[in-house]
Amino acid sequence: MRDGKIPVIIDCDPGHDDAVALALAFGSGQFDVKGVTTVAGNSTVDNTYANALKFLSFIGVCVEVAKGAAKPLLRQLTVAPNVHGTTGLDGTDLGDSRLKGSGRSAVELLTEILRTSSEKITLIPTGPLTNIATLFLAAPEVKENVEQIVLMGGAALEGNWTPAAEFNIFVDPEAARIVFESGVPITMVGLDVTHKALIYPDEIEALRKQGRIGKAIAELMDFYGIFYRKQFKGNPVHDAVAVAAVMCPDIISTQHLNVSVETCGEFTRGMTVVDFRGVTGKDPNCNVALGLDRESFIDLIFDAVRKLDESGAV
Ligand code: RIB
Ligand code: CA
Repeated sequence: MRDGKIPVIIDCDPGHDDAVALALAFGSGQFDVKGVTTVAGNSTVDNTYANALKFLSFIGVCVEVAKGAAKPLLRQLTVAPNVHGTTGLDGTDLGDSRLKGSGRSAVELLTEILRTSSEKITLIPTGPLTNIATLFLAAPEVKENVEQIVLMGGAALEGNWTPAAEFNIFVDPEAARIVFESGVPITMVGLDVTHKALIYPDEIEALRKQGRIGKAIAELMDFYGIFYRKQFKGNPVHDAVAVAAVMCPDIISTQHLNVSVETCGEFTRGMTVVDFRGVTGKDPNCNVALGLDRESFIDLIFDAVRKLDESGAV
């Protein structure tokens, strides 16, 4: 770890909650972010790539950002404009990006970093797992240099895109199956905890007053809340929980269980089937997050955003 910072690569589909996850990762000062890769999910990959560049430039960060998969491994792409808007990051004007995107693809960047790193890298996917699955298919040897995968996706007991499936897994269940069966240590940060990771209106107002970046994130939460206010009293900041769980593992509580991904079900495509009682006899392959310390989680976000605003990034 350089300067005690955790080496990570973030694979994302910004995405309002992905943006908060990026702000937490870069603002916290806890991470050596080796690269950011983007994938189609919340919006098209052109949009998620542009959104990542714009948001990272807006928060004053310089990092290689690479464009990844435009569609799932086998299926047509499902996007979520009902949640994230037509751009994938509606709600505030981030201005043009001063960051130049990478000339490499997401899988090329992931492969290069993992092949050449002298230390194991933690992968933090917060969108569909298409890039990660493609990486493991194309360069399986790089798995040895992956410390762990802490992903936002799935759920033990609920779904949000269908009654059975969470969006990231639903979009590309074949990719998810490849990742869950990869043998790499996985922590699944699913809806069981991210539906507890609510940022409430009063907390959004406090962010708004914090500074330029706090105000922009509050505006993003205003837009994001249009969809979520129908279901919750706050906004579930799904993806930021995965980042928080890497920097503060005790912020979640987990059980080591077997998780299988349904790829064929008419009503259950993308379901993460969690074997709580070991009835399948299959070895546990995943730390399933079930509990969350919400207050500490929100404190981490406020602290990271404050540090970004104090950094004077303009
Ligand atoms: O189901 C929530 C997940 O889907 C989050 O990662 C959100 O950004 C969307 O990608
Ligand atoms: Ca996401």
